[in-house]
Amino acid sequence: AAEIGVAVLGLGNVGSEVVRIIRDHARDLESRIGAPMVLRGVAVRRIDGDRGVAAELLTTDADSLVARDDVDIVVEVIGGIEVPRKLILAALNSGKSVVTANKALLAEYTGELAEAAERRGADLYFEAAVAGAIPVIRPLTQSLAGDRVNKVAGIVNGTTNFILSAMDETGADYADTLAEAGRLGYAEADPTADVEGFDAAAKAAILASIAFHTRVTAADVYREGISSITAADLEAAKSLDCTVKLLSICERIVGADGTERVSARVYPSLVPLDHPLASVNGAFNAVVVEAEAAGRLMFYGQGAGGAPTASAVMGDVVMAARNKVNGGRGPRESAYAALAIAPIGEI
Ligand code: HSE
Repeated sequence: AAEIGVAVLGLGNVGSEVVRIIRDHARDLESRIGAPMVLRGVAVRRIDGDRGVAAELLTTDADSLVARDDVDIVVEVIGGIEVPRKLILAALNSGKSVVTANKALLAEYTGELAEAAERRGADLYFEAAVAGAIPVIRPLTQSLAGDRVNKVAGIVNGTTNFILSAMDETGADYADTLAEAGRLGYAEADPTADVEGFDAAAKAAILASIAFHTRVTAADVYREGISSITAADLEAAKSLDCTVKLLSICERIVGADGTERVSARVYPSLVPLDHPLASVNGAFNAVVVEAEAAGRLMFYGQGAGGAPTASAVMGDVVMAARNKVNGGRGPRESAYAALAIAPIGEI
C-alpha cells in the first residue's frame, strides 16, 4: 500500500492520544511500517469548539468514515456496545483491520467479531481492552501460543485497586474513599461498572477466552464487587498478614476423569502480603500468568488512562498496518478455536 489510512472512532482520552501519536510520530511510524500512516478522519458525537484536530478531519458520520475506500484500519475507542458493534462489523466485512479497546463489547461479541474477521481475512486486535498499556493479550495469543496456560489471575481494574489501596493505607471507609477517588478523577461519575466488578468480569471473559482457546462471555463469569468491603475487612486482612484485592481469576480445571473446564471469577480476595499482587497499589494493574513450560510470569503497569491505553492501541495499529503492507495476518484463529472447554461459573 502506498499509504495506510486510519479512521479513529471517538475522541475521548484515548482517541485524542491516538491522534496525537499518529501526528507527532509520523516519521517513526512510517519507518516501522514501511508506508506513511495517514489519519483520514475522526468520528465524534458533536463538532463543537477546538477538539485539537483539524476541523476537516472531524465528522459525525462514523458509518461513512468507516466505509471510505482509503481507510485501511479502523480504531474504535467510543465505548458502548451496539454502535461500535455495527461499525466494527461493517469494517471487518469490507476487509478492513480493526483495533478496539472495547472490553464490554468483546466480552459479549468476540465470537461474532472474530468470525467476521476470519471470513474476510481481516485483522482484529484488542490489546488495549485488558489492562491498558500492559501487554497481556499478545503474550497470551502469541508468546505463549506453544505453551499450555493453566491460570491467569490479576488486578485488571484500576479504579477499585485505587480505592482498596487507599482504604488499606488510610483506614478510611468505602464511601469516603470512593468519593475521594471521584474527586481525584480515578472513579467515574457512575462508578457502578468498576466497583461492582462488571469491568473486571468483562476483562476476565476476554482473558479466559484467549488463554484457554474457548469462548467465555461476561455472563459466564462469577462476579462480586467491592462496594460492601469495609474498613474493618481491611483491618482483619492486615491482622492475617494479608490485604484485599479485587482479583479476576481464570483457571483451567482438570477433573479426575480428565475432562477440562474453565473457571472465571471476580471477587475481593485476601492476598498474602508476600504475594506479588499484594504490592500492586494505586491505579496500577498486574496480571500473573501460569503456564506449564513457562512457569509463572507477571505483567505490571498502567492499566487505565488515555496515554497508556493509547500505547496499546498504537501497538496494534502498527501490527495491523505492517500486515496491510506485507500481506500478513494477525493472530486470531488459534485464539478462538472450537469450544474445547465448557465455561462455568465459580467452582
Ligand atoms: N475503568 C477502568 C479501570 C478503565 O478502572 O480500570 C480501564 O479499563
